[in-house]
Amino acid sequence: MNSRDIYILAIESSCDDTAAAVLHNDKLLSNIVATQEVHKKYGGVVPELASRAHQQNIVPVIHQALAEANIDKKDLSAIAFTKGPGLMGSLLVGTSFAKSLSMGLNIPLIEVNHMQAHILAHFIDEEDFPKPTFPFLALTISGGHTQVVKVSNYFEMEVIGQTIDDAVGEAFDKSAKILGLPYPGGPLIDRYARTGNPKAYKFTKPKVDGLDFSFSGLKTAVLYFIQKEVKNNPNFIEENRDDICASIQYTIVEILMDKIKKAVKQTGINQIAIGGGVSANSGIRTALKAGEQKYGWQTYIPKFEYTTDNAAMIGIVGYYKYLEEEFTDMGVTAQARYKF
Ligand code: KG4
Ligand code: ZN
Repeated sequence: MNSRDIYILAIESSCDDTAAAVLHNDKLLSNIVATQEVHKKYGGVVPELASRAHQQNIVPVIHQALAEANIDKKDLSAIAFTKGPGLMGSLLVGTSFAKSLSMGLNIPLIEVNHMQAHILAHFIDEEDFPKPTFPFLALTISGGHTQVVKVSNYFEMEVIGQTIDDAVGEAFDKSAKILGLPYPGGPLIDRYARTGNPKAYKFTKPKVDGLDFSFSGLKTAVLYFIQKEVKNNPNFIEENRDDICASIQYTIVEILMDKIKKAVKQTGINQIAIGGGVSANSGIRTALKAGEQKYGWQTYIPKFEYTTDNAAMIGIVGYYKYLEEEFTDMGVTAQARYKF
């Protein structure tokens, strides 16, 4: 093994996925995610249940990641872990485990910001997935986050816009709940929207200054609209499900596209890299691709397994930090609100 062979074990436990990955330099060797099913019946993540499930999952998930990578613990160069942002109880499980493992193996510990990781996920080496070049704009959209970030290099990032209330994934999930769809409803809205008319119903878009977003008003608008219609026709949702979903999705896509256009104009940067679970949405993908022709921008969408919460993205940040010898001391603790 020469000194250019860096093996990172990465651990992610910020929300409701327990994940571990092994990377050899910027290449992925294994990527294991244990999704917690326990939250489904509650229609959202229950923090206390999440941290308990992390405790149960973390050892088998790490074992599996090492086994699939065919790597022995003693060959690891460092342990990278998510320090934050996220749910405190969840973060503590990964943080404590990473600290103990690095101490036990006597190898460096590397703290990682989860949001930075969503962005650097684009740099995991993959054929057919070109990497953005600096500077670029990153749009991180998920159930927990909605951010536009100006990315100048691997570590220099500036949040230039973010949600002032709900995340975009919540707008999908909460609207879906109003329609009686199970959690998480985002993928279902996407599916039904494909056969619906996006202009069937009109929902007003929020007026928010600059590059910030707001999604809580949309949820309320959907709720009032449905309550009113169902009063007149109890079968309204069943009879118009696809049109309702298409109209909700159309509004969300418009809100995002308005701000992206503004961000491109404001920064002069026309490369856009998207990440987070909501980047799977077909309406958003189509609108971004159409913008390539229309507005001359270039879009980057990573492999799907790197867009939702995963440890591979934590590992790639770990790799770049390892090259810079940016290590963390044992006094580190999890941080629920961790800015970069
Ligand atoms: O990144 P992720 O797996 O977890 C975090 O929230 O951090 O994102 C999950 C979110 C959920 O809100 C889910 O409804 C949404 O991503 N989502 C979608 C689609 N696939 C996942 N929303 C709209 N359309 C989709 N196809
Ligand atoms: Zn995330």
